[in-house]
Amino acid sequence: MLTVKHLAKSYDGEKKSLTDVSFSVRPGEVTVIIGPSGAGKTTILRSINQLIRDDDGEILFDSTDMRQLNRSQLRRARTRIGMIFQNYNLIEPLTAIENVLHGCLGTKSNLAGMFSIYSADEKQEALKLLEKVGLRDFAYQQCRNLSGGQEQRVGIARALMQHPKIILCDEPIASLDPKSTITVMDILRNLATAEGISVLINLHQVDIARHYADHVIGINNGQVVFDDATSALTDVAVTNIYRKDANQEGSLMYEL
Ligand SMILES: Nc1ncnc2c1ncn2[C@@H]1O[C@H](COP(=O)(O)OP(=O)(O)O)[C@@H](O)[C@H]1O
Ligand SMILES: [Mg+2]
Repeated sequence: MLTVKHLAKSYDGEKKSLTDVSFSVRPGEVTVIIGPSGAGKTTILRSINQLIRDDDGEILFDSTDMRQLNRSQLRRARTRIGMIFQNYNLIEPLTAIENVLHGCLGTKSNLAGMFSIYSADEKQEALKLLEKVGLRDFAYQQCRNLSGGQEQRVGIARALMQHPKIILCDEPIASLDPKSTITVMDILRNLATAEGISVLINLHQVDIARHYADHVIGINNGQVVFDDATSALTDVAVTNIYRKDANQEGSLMYEL
Protein backbone atom coordinates (compact mmCIF):
# COMPACT_ATOMS: atom_id res chain seq x y z
CA MET A 1 0.00 0.00 0.00
CA LEU A 2 3.04 2.25 0.47
CA THR A 3 6.19 1.72 -1.53
CA VAL A 4 9.15 4.05 -1.40
CA LYS A 5 11.59 3.68 -4.28
CA HIS A 6 15.05 5.15 -4.65
CA LEU A 7 14.27 8.14 -2.44
CA ALA A 8 17.07 10.72 -2.27
CA LYS A 9 17.31 14.03 -0.45
CA SER A 10 19.93 16.64 0.17
CA TYR A 11 19.05 19.73 2.20
CA ASP A 12 21.98 21.81 1.01
CA GLY A 13 22.59 20.38 -2.46
CA GLU A 14 25.82 18.80 -1.26
CA LYS A 15 25.59 16.40 1.66
CA LYS A 16 23.08 13.61 1.01
CA SER A 17 20.67 13.05 3.90
CA LEU A 18 19.04 10.14 2.03
CA THR A 19 20.70 8.03 -0.64
CA ASP A 20 18.56 5.61 -2.63
CA VAL A 21 16.10 4.59 0.10
CA SER A 22 13.61 1.86 -0.90
CA PHE A 23 11.15 -0.11 1.24
CA SER A 24 7.49 -1.12 1.45
CA VAL A 25 4.84 -0.91 4.14
CA ARG A 26 2.13 -3.58 4.15
CA PRO A 27 -1.51 -3.12 5.18
CA GLY A 28 -2.28 -3.87 8.80
CA GLU A 29 1.35 -4.12 9.81
CA VAL A 30 3.42 -2.13 12.26
CA THR A 31 6.65 -1.15 10.53
CA VAL A 32 9.34 0.47 12.66
CA ILE A 33 12.24 2.53 11.30
CA ILE A 34 15.24 2.47 13.63
CA GLY A 35 18.66 4.01 13.30
CA PRO A 36 21.01 6.48 14.96
CA SER A 37 20.21 10.14 15.39
CA GLY A 38 20.75 11.97 12.11
CA ALA A 39 20.37 8.79 10.03
CA GLY A 40 17.44 10.23 8.05
CA LYS A 41 14.36 8.77 9.77
CA THR A 42 12.45 12.05 10.06
CA THR A 43 13.39 12.99 6.51
CA ILE A 44 11.88 9.74 5.23
CA LEU A 45 8.66 10.17 7.18
CA ARG A 46 8.14 13.78 6.16
CA SER A 47 8.88 12.97 2.53
CA ILE A 48 6.06 10.44 2.45
CA ASN A 49 3.34 13.08 2.81
CA GLN A 50 5.55 15.66 1.09
CA LEU A 51 5.93 17.93 4.11
CA ILE A 52 9.43 18.17 2.73
CA ARG A 53 10.20 17.88 -0.92
CA ASP A 54 12.70 15.17 -1.71
CA ASP A 55 15.01 15.31 -4.71
CA ASP A 56 14.48 12.00 -6.42
CA GLY A 57 12.60 8.70 -6.29
CA GLU A 58 9.00 7.53 -6.08
CA ILE A 59 6.55 7.41 -3.19
CA LEU A 60 3.71 5.15 -4.24
CA PHE A 61 0.73 5.45 -1.93
CA ASP A 62 -1.95 3.11 -3.27
CA SER A 63 -0.12 3.19 -6.62
CA THR A 64 -0.19 7.00 -6.85
CA ASP A 65 3.15 8.77 -6.75
CA MET A 66 2.84 11.42 -4.01
CA ARG A 67 5.63 13.35 -5.71
CA GLN A 68 3.60 13.89 -8.88
CA LEU A 69 0.43 15.31 -7.29
CA ASN A 70 -0.71 18.90 -7.66
CA ARG A 71 -1.74 20.90 -4.59
CA SER A 72 -5.37 19.81 -4.41
CA GLN A 73 -4.54 16.19 -5.19
CA LEU A 74 -1.89 16.25 -2.49
CA ARG A 75 -4.31 17.75 -0.02
CA ARG A 76 -6.77 14.94 -0.75
CA ALA A 77 -4.11 12.23 -0.48
CA ARG A 78 -2.91 13.66 2.83
CA THR A 79 -6.34 13.19 4.38
CA ARG A 80 -5.69 9.43 4.26
CA ILE A 81 -2.29 9.77 5.95
CA GLY A 82 -2.41 10.40 9.71
CA MET A 83 0.56 11.97 11.42
CA ILE A 84 1.69 11.66 15.04
CA PHE A 85 4.50 13.83 16.39
CA GLN A 86 6.91 13.58 19.31
CA ASN A 87 5.65 16.88 20.73
CA TYR A 88 1.98 16.03 19.89
CA ASN A 89 1.39 19.24 17.86
CA LEU A 90 -1.90 19.96 19.62
CA ILE A 91 -3.40 23.40 20.07
CA GLU A 92 -2.86 23.59 23.81
CA PRO A 93 -5.57 26.14 24.79
CA LEU A 94 -8.25 24.13 22.95
CA THR A 95 -10.06 21.15 24.41
CA ALA A 96 -9.31 17.54 23.54
CA ILE A 97 -12.45 17.23 21.40
CA GLU A 98 -11.67 20.46 19.53
CA ASN A 99 -8.23 19.11 18.70
CA VAL A 100 -9.68 15.80 17.53
CA LEU A 101 -12.19 17.64 15.32
CA HIS A 102 -9.28 19.42 13.69
CA GLY A 103 -8.46 16.03 12.17
CA CYS A 104 -11.29 16.45 9.69
CA LEU A 105 -10.28 19.95 8.57
CA GLY A 106 -8.66 18.56 5.45
CA THR A 107 -12.01 17.30 4.19
CA LYS A 108 -13.98 20.50 4.85
CA SER A 109 -14.56 23.58 2.75
CA ASN A 110 -12.26 26.46 3.63
CA LEU A 111 -15.10 28.45 5.12
CA ALA A 112 -16.44 25.69 7.37
CA GLY A 113 -12.87 24.96 8.37
CA MET A 114 -12.09 28.58 9.13
CA PHE A 115 -15.04 28.91 11.48
CA SER A 116 -14.55 25.44 12.96
CA ILE A 117 -18.07 24.40 11.99
CA TYR A 118 -18.57 20.73 12.71
CA SER A 119 -21.67 18.60 12.33
CA ALA A 120 -23.31 16.69 15.18
CA ASP A 121 -22.10 13.47 13.53
CA GLU A 122 -18.52 14.71 13.50
CA LYS A 123 -18.73 15.65 17.18
CA GLN A 124 -20.19 12.24 17.96
CA GLU A 125 -17.37 10.55 16.09
CA ALA A 126 -14.74 12.64 17.87
CA LEU A 127 -16.20 11.58 21.21
CA LYS A 128 -16.17 7.95 20.13
CA LEU A 129 -12.53 8.21 19.15
CA LEU A 130 -11.64 9.80 22.48
CA GLU A 131 -13.42 6.89 24.14
CA LYS A 132 -11.37 4.49 22.02
CA VAL A 133 -8.12 5.98 23.34
CA GLY A 134 -9.47 6.00 26.91
CA LEU A 135 -10.10 9.75 27.18
CA ARG A 136 -13.89 10.12 26.99
CA ASP A 137 -13.92 11.82 30.39
CA PHE A 138 -11.30 14.32 29.28
CA ALA A 139 -13.08 15.48 26.11
CA TYR A 140 -13.76 18.98 27.38
CA GLN A 141 -10.44 19.51 29.17
CA GLN A 142 -7.96 21.91 27.68
CA CYS A 143 -5.03 19.98 26.26
CA ARG A 144 -2.60 22.09 28.26
CA ASN A 145 -3.98 20.39 31.39
CA LEU A 146 -3.40 16.85 30.13
CA SER A 147 -0.35 14.65 30.74
CA GLY A 148 2.04 13.86 27.90
CA GLY A 149 0.62 10.39 27.46
CA GLN A 150 -2.91 11.77 27.34
CA GLU A 151 -1.88 14.42 24.82
CA GLN A 152 -0.38 11.80 22.57
CA ARG A 153 -3.61 9.80 22.76
CA VAL A 154 -5.51 12.95 21.69
CA GLY A 155 -3.03 13.12 18.80
CA ILE A 156 -3.93 9.56 17.83
CA ALA A 157 -7.66 10.29 18.01
CA ARG A 158 -7.11 13.37 15.82
CA ALA A 159 -5.28 11.24 13.26
CA LEU A 160 -8.11 8.66 13.32
CA MET A 161 -10.64 11.40 12.60
CA GLN A 162 -9.10 11.48 9.10
CA HIS A 163 -9.98 7.79 8.53
CA PRO A 164 -6.36 7.18 7.59
CA LYS A 165 -5.07 4.19 5.67
CA ILE A 166 -1.68 4.76 7.19
CA ILE A 167 -0.44 6.56 10.28
CA LEU A 168 3.07 7.99 10.32
CA CYS A 169 4.57 8.44 13.79
CA ASP A 170 7.80 10.35 14.34
CA GLU A 171 9.27 9.35 17.72
CA PRO A 172 5.78 9.15 19.27
CA ILE A 173 7.01 7.98 22.68
CA ALA A 174 10.28 9.89 23.01
CA SER A 175 8.80 12.30 25.56
CA LEU A 176 6.72 9.75 27.50
CA ASP A 177 7.22 7.83 30.74
CA PRO A 178 7.34 3.99 30.55
CA LYS A 179 3.67 3.50 31.48
CA SER A 180 2.39 5.98 28.90
CA THR A 181 4.78 4.47 26.36
CA ILE A 182 3.07 1.10 26.73
CA THR A 183 -0.41 2.62 26.55
CA VAL A 184 0.41 4.54 23.35
CA MET A 185 2.24 1.65 21.69
CA ASP A 186 -0.60 -0.76 22.58
CA ILE A 187 -3.09 1.59 20.92
CA LEU A 188 -0.96 1.89 17.76
CA ARG A 189 -0.44 -1.88 17.63
CA ASN A 190 -4.16 -2.45 17.99
CA LEU A 191 -5.01 -0.03 15.17
CA ALA A 192 -2.92 -2.19 12.84
CA THR A 193 -4.15 -5.55 14.09
CA ALA A 194 -7.83 -4.77 14.62
CA GLU A 195 -8.49 -2.13 11.97
CA GLY A 196 -5.96 -2.95 9.28
CA ILE A 197 -4.40 0.51 9.39
CA SER A 198 -0.71 0.51 8.43
CA VAL A 199 1.43 2.09 11.11
CA LEU A 200 4.91 3.38 10.30
CA ILE A 201 6.90 4.50 13.34
CA ASN A 202 10.29 6.15 13.75
CA LEU A 203 11.83 4.97 17.00
CA HIS A 204 15.19 4.77 18.62
CA GLN A 205 14.22 2.24 21.29
CA VAL A 206 15.21 -1.16 19.88
CA ASP A 207 13.45 -3.10 22.65
CA ILE A 208 10.14 -1.39 21.83
CA ALA A 209 10.65 -2.09 18.12
CA ARG A 210 11.26 -5.76 18.91
CA HIS A 211 8.11 -5.99 21.00
CA TYR A 212 5.69 -4.15 18.73
CA ALA A 213 6.91 -4.29 15.13
CA ASP A 214 6.04 -6.81 12.45
CA HIS A 215 8.74 -5.45 10.22
CA VAL A 216 11.84 -3.36 10.84
CA ILE A 217 13.71 -0.99 8.53
CA GLY A 218 17.21 -0.06 9.72
CA ILE A 219 18.63 3.25 8.50
CA ASN A 220 22.24 4.31 8.78
CA ASN A 221 23.69 7.40 7.15
CA GLY A 222 20.73 7.87 4.80
CA GLN A 223 20.69 4.29 3.57
CA VAL A 224 18.62 1.18 4.27
CA VAL A 225 20.93 -1.30 5.99
CA PHE A 226 18.23 -3.67 7.30
CA ASP A 227 14.79 -4.58 5.92
CA ASP A 228 13.27 -7.72 7.37
CA ALA A 229 10.77 -9.30 9.75
CA THR A 230 11.28 -8.35 13.40
CA SER A 231 12.33 -11.92 14.21
CA ALA A 232 15.42 -11.39 12.02
CA LEU A 233 16.55 -8.38 14.08
CA THR A 234 19.46 -10.05 15.87
CA ASP A 235 21.92 -8.25 18.15
CA VAL A 236 24.46 -8.33 15.32
CA ALA A 237 21.93 -6.68 12.99
CA VAL A 238 21.28 -3.97 15.60
CA THR A 239 25.01 -3.30 16.02
CA ASN A 240 25.30 -2.94 12.27
CA ILE A 241 22.36 -0.50 12.08
CA TYR A 242 23.86 1.67 14.84
CA ARG A 243 27.48 1.47 13.69
CA LYS A 244 29.35 4.66 13.12
CA ASP A 245 29.68 4.78 9.38
CA ALA A 246 33.25 3.92 8.53
CA ASN A 247 32.74 4.44 4.81
CA GLN A 248 31.57 8.00 5.32
CA GLU A 249 34.70 8.96 7.25
CA GLY A 250 36.87 7.13 4.73
CA SER A 251 35.41 8.98 1.79
CA LEU A 252 35.68 12.26 3.66
CA MET A 253 39.39 11.68 4.25
CA TYR A 254 39.76 10.64 0.64
CA GLU A 255 38.14 13.87 -0.53
CA LEU A 256 40.38 15.96 1.72
N1 LIG B 1 15.97 21.23 7.77
C1 LIG B 1 17.20 20.69 7.60
N2 LIG B 1 18.18 21.40 7.03
C2 LIG B 1 19.43 20.89 6.84
N3 LIG B 1 19.78 19.63 7.20
C3 LIG B 1 18.84 18.87 7.78
C4 LIG B 1 17.49 19.35 8.01
N4 LIG B 1 16.78 18.37 8.60
C5 LIG B 1 17.62 17.32 8.72
N5 LIG B 1 18.85 17.61 8.23
C6 LIG B 1 20.01 16.70 8.17
O1 LIG B 1 19.61 15.52 7.50
C7 LIG B 1 20.14 14.37 8.16
C8 LIG B 1 19.01 13.45 8.56
O2 LIG B 1 18.23 14.09 9.55
P1 LIG B 1 16.90 13.47 10.14
O3 LIG B 1 16.04 13.00 9.03
O4 LIG B 1 16.32 14.47 11.07
O5 LIG B 1 17.46 12.21 10.95
P2 LIG B 1 16.82 11.39 12.16
O6 LIG B 1 15.37 11.67 12.19
O7 LIG B 1 17.17 9.97 11.85
O8 LIG B 1 17.53 11.86 13.41
C9 LIG B 1 20.99 14.88 9.31
O9 LIG B 1 22.32 14.94 8.88
C10 LIG B 1 20.44 16.27 9.56
O10 LIG B 1 21.43 17.10 10.08
MG1 LIG C 1 14.17 12.35 13.73
